[in-house]
Amino acid sequence: MFSNVPFYRGDPIYSLFEEYEKDPRKNKVSLSIGVYCDEDGKVPYMRAVKAAEDEITLNLGARPYLPMEGMQSFRTAAQRLLFGEAHEAVKSGRIATIQSVGATGAVRVGAEFLRVNLNSNSVWISDFTWETHLDIFQACGYKVSRYPYYDAGTGGVDFGAFHAFLDGLPEGSVVVLHACAHNPTGAELSNDEWTKVAELMVRRRLIAFLDMAYQGFSKSLEDDAFAIRALSDAGASFLVANSFSKNFALYGERVGALSVVCPDATQAENVLGQLKATARRTYSSPPTHGARIIEKVLTTPTLNAAWHAELDAMRARIQAMRHALHDALSSKVGAERVNYLLVQSGMFSFTGLTPAQIDVLREEFGVYLVSTGRICLAGLTTSNVEYVANAMAHAIEHANR
Ligand code: LMR
Repeated sequence: MFSNVPFYRGDPIYSLFEEYEKDPRKNKVSLSIGVYCDEDGKVPYMRAVKAAEDEITLNLGARPYLPMEGMQSFRTAAQRLLFGEAHEAVKSGRIATIQSVGATGAVRVGAEFLRVNLNSNSVWISDFTWETHLDIFQACGYKVSRYPYYDAGTGGVDFGAFHAFLDGLPEGSVVVLHACAHNPTGAELSNDEWTKVAELMVRRRLIAFLDMAYQGFSKSLEDDAFAIRALSDAGASFLVANSFSKNFALYGERVGALSVVCPDATQAENVLGQLKATARRTYSSPPTHGARIIEKVLTTPTLNAAWHAELDAMRARIQAMRHALHDALSSKVGAERVNYLLVQSGMFSFTGLTPAQIDVLREEFGVYLVSTGRICLAGLTTSNVEYVANAMAHAIEHANR
């Protein structure tokens, strides 16, 4: 019966991480999956999360189904974090937000919602992007194409090409944008550029679909939400998928949200209904535990302040590692070759290393990078950064031989 089921070659990110876990070498380094690790190379159990979880556990109780759209207080708290408490769109009730199964689940529900309700069938993703965007939209029946984004010459965004390209897209096209800390390149738009993109989205009647998996990992929780605020202020109708996996270090709880910004509260109510229907036919309703923790932290002032401080420290550690790798590498291969590290921001950078160089890093040094050359800086520590820099210099040298 299943003889024609093809072999699954695995996911480039998850499978590589599984390979890393099996690697017996003591000095191995994981720079592949987008997971924050602390100075000891461990995923942290954040103090604010622990305090909230301790309190919740005292009162666990029975767990009936959540509504299809998720926990009301969590959804309100998530909306306020993304858009700002005082934002007109929040106050006027014109945003439909559901709790989702991670940001991946939010992208999937959003893609299906647009396909079914707007008959959308063409989507544009950045060149490069998080490749699961391609898989999700294809699975929902879209034709997926790429827009120009990354400028390998500067390590930043080729804004001229990007903006001109979007300006030529057919009305109603769905455009997936990374709200901050672009995955995989780390190349971000400036605030001025976001304002121009927001204006373009409205003028050309394009549907922006923001993916924000790394809020708090580029500049700050507030500043990283600039793209969302710019689109709302410009009067755009758009979607945002956001994740709490990274900024709460609660990867396994799979908590995210999908928000759809509408012109008015009546449309938002109808959209919410269709999001619920999409959730119902996909997984019925989301799980309870992780959302409870996040809601408690976001709505308890002392825990919220503690969480902000911890997240600030995580971001500062990544930033310090970014600079340490830059300094260690530039003395070995020349500053020009590694300038991209200082241009880019967030958890990732795009090294430009070739698949052959990446093989050398993994096979000879136990340093794991995904084959596109993306590096997760959160896997670096003060004790392994010099080792990684040496390994990268060796791999670059190897290619020159
Ligand atoms: C990543 O890009 O490594 C993370 O977002 C994990 C994932 O789901 O791919």
